[in-house]
Amino acid sequence: MMDYEKFKEEVYKISTIDLSAYKEKQMKRRLDALIKKHEYDGYDAYVKALRLKGDIYEEFITYMTINVSEFFRNPPQWKVLEEKVLPYLFDKAGSKNIKIWSAACSTGDEPYSLAMLMSKFVPLRQINIFATDIDKQILMQAQTGLYNSKSIVGVPADLKAKYFEEVGKSYKVSDEIKKCVTFKQHNLLKDPYPKGMDLIVCRNVLIYFTNEAKDEIYHKFNQALKNGGVLFVGSTEQIIGYQKFNFSSEQTFFYKKQGESTFM
Ligand SMILES: C[S@@+](CC[C@H](N)C(=O)[O-])C[C@H]1O[C@@H](n2cnc3c(N)ncnc32)[C@H](O)[C@@H]1O
Repeated sequence: MMDYEKFKEEVYKISTIDLSAYKEKQMKRRLDALIKKHEYDGYDAYVKALRLKGDIYEEFITYMTINVSEFFRNPPQWKVLEEKVLPYLFDKAGSKNIKIWSAACSTGDEPYSLAMLMSKFVPLRQINIFATDIDKQILMQAQTGLYNSKSIVGVPADLKAKYFEEVGKSYKVSDEIKKCVTFKQHNLLKDPYPKGMDLIVCRNVLIYFTNEAKDEIYHKFNQALKNGGVLFVGSTEQIIGYQKFNFSSEQTFFYKKQGESTFM
């Protein structure tokens, strides 16, 4: 009978997702719920299904990777981004465009929010946000850009009027905002990181990782940033001991690669 260790190995072979980088208790609980739902008799039968049945595999990826998102999630932090961090980054970049990476972007709410916010500073044609996630299905959904009313509650009224169209009970992001975002599949645990970023937004995914995995990711984010570039994290994801990853922090949830002046 297959145990969890062996199961992780099998999952890696099938999907290249390394479950040992994710907190075990939480993963196991979610996994057991899935297996129970389909009434499989343990990991062996479930692995067989993962190999043979596309729908079971897709469901597994979606369920294990937890895709919940929303526009302008935790609005007070987006205010800090708008009022302090972006002005600082634009000032620092001079006449150049700023490079933004939304890592683990899920359904696109986050990169589209970034594009909308950026449009307050520069013309849309100057905005190009790189948005990545491990989950291919979710990226397809992100590219469609269709949301329910709950996802967009945090969108300020002026931006909602400007950049959303009502389609039945849903809201569609305008094509001009879509054009500002380039989506790509990327696994934070395994794939090479881009370089020369001014801002990396990575929120509500590192909570699922082990401390070792997180440490490696912080280190790689630091290397992916320009000097003085900023990492924006989720509201339960403050970095303990950020100095050891070569960050400083003048605003909660924002970490600056050491070597440049302050935000304020
Ligand atoms: C809860 S969502 C966060 C979405 C958005 N950043 C936010 O804060 O609203 C977590 C996302 O992380 C993605 N994810 C999980 N493991 C990942 C990995 N190893 N590499 C890249 N993305 C990953 C999931 O597919 C999911 O879309």
